[in-house]
Amino acid sequence: MSDTAPLIDPFQRAISYLRVSVTDRCDFRCVYCMSENMTFLPKKELLTLEELDRLCSTFIHLGVKKLRITGGEPLVRRGIMTFFEGMGRHLESGALDELTLTTNGSQLERFADDLYATGVRRVNLSLDTLDEQKFADITRWGRLPQVLRGVDAAQKAGLRVKINAVALKGFNEDELPRITEWCAERDMDLTWIEVMPMGDIGNEDRLDQYWSLKDVRARYAENYTVTDLAERTGGPARYVRLEETGQKIGFITPLSHNFCESCNRVRVTCTGEIFMCLGQEDRADLRGALRAHPTDDAPLEEAIRGAIALKPKGHDFDYSRQRLDGQMTRHMSHTGG
Ligand code: GTP
Ligand code: 5AD
Ligand code: SF4
Repeated sequence: MSDTAPLIDPFQRAISYLRVSVTDRCDFRCVYCMSENMTFLPKKELLTLEELDRLCSTFIHLGVKKLRITGGEPLVRRGIMTFFEGMGRHLESGALDELTLTTNGSQLERFADDLYATGVRRVNLSLDTLDEQKFADITRWGRLPQVLRGVDAAQKAGLRVKINAVALKGFNEDELPRITEWCAERDMDLTWIEVMPMGDIGNEDRLDQYWSLKDVRARYAENYTVTDLAERTGGPARYVRLEETGQKIGFITPLSHNFCESCNRVRVTCTGEIFMCLGQEDRADLRGALRAHPTDDAPLEEAIRGAIALKPKGHDFDYSRQRLDGQMTRHMSHTGG
């Protein structure tokens, strides 16, 4: 029998949440995420769907209870439903509490029912604006009506939808009430995210884009009674309630408030590299152990434990000196956000 002691990092944080990027590709080119001419990984670098299954199953064996599939855009990976179906068995056995994904919504019209059938019950959907032109501008290649049809399809299929919006100065500031009301009407949760210095898109842009969530909160307070909630879901989000609508709004504030002390997660890329923190370079290869020992999981488990033992305390993102500190060279699509 292999060792099934829980995964605990050097700061006594239990790692129970795995985020897996199944592709670095995307059908959008969001301006804060990718450059227009991205070079993507050659296919042979990618883990196969079978390898992804084995890797995730090993993490689950080691105590991971929540699995989030990300990308790039996870639903553009060919055959990805086979992988979701495979993971469904861990929900059935009770080994896994939640199987979910973060998506741009472009393919949901096609896949919402299938996702529900595999056991997915919630999806996080990235959407920064409800204005068609602005949507086309910020995603470069995306089209809003297609995504809105995806939202409809997801809700119709019975999936709970959470909207993630990156707060961008001068871009969606004026849409705060509209996006908030839209989410309330459709009974969707809403979380705002501060833009992080991930990947080279031009440094000037990033500082110009940064809209502190302290300001977003203040903006809400102009129109609503805002109550801070003590509730924590194990993730980085902090929540407030808008008393007038009863709505719960999340804030993910890596820049204005560091939340790393309660971090419960690690990330694996589509090439089988584990990143111990979104905002640090610490990484380890898992693909070697996976491929060198196709029938013995012990070396892979050892590699995972070795990586968790090196998880850093937290990120070093900082804009407070009016320059970008803690900048990461890799793009968000590499590790899946
Ligand atoms: P829930 O299960 O809905 O709580 O999801 P979540 O908030 O853990 O995941 P989600 O995909 O909604 O995360 C939204 C965004 O928050 C990510 O894309 C990242 O931009 C950011 N984020 C999530 N986890 C971390 C983290 O550990 N560190 C930092 N710096 N940002 C994070
Ligand atoms: N900073 C903050 N959020 C980002 N995302 C992509 N790039 C960045 C960035 N630099 C978000 C997307 C999506 C999630 C996967 O990450 O909008 O919500
Ligand atoms: Fe694609 Fe998401 Fe990056 Fe936009 S933010 S380009 S949708 S991976």
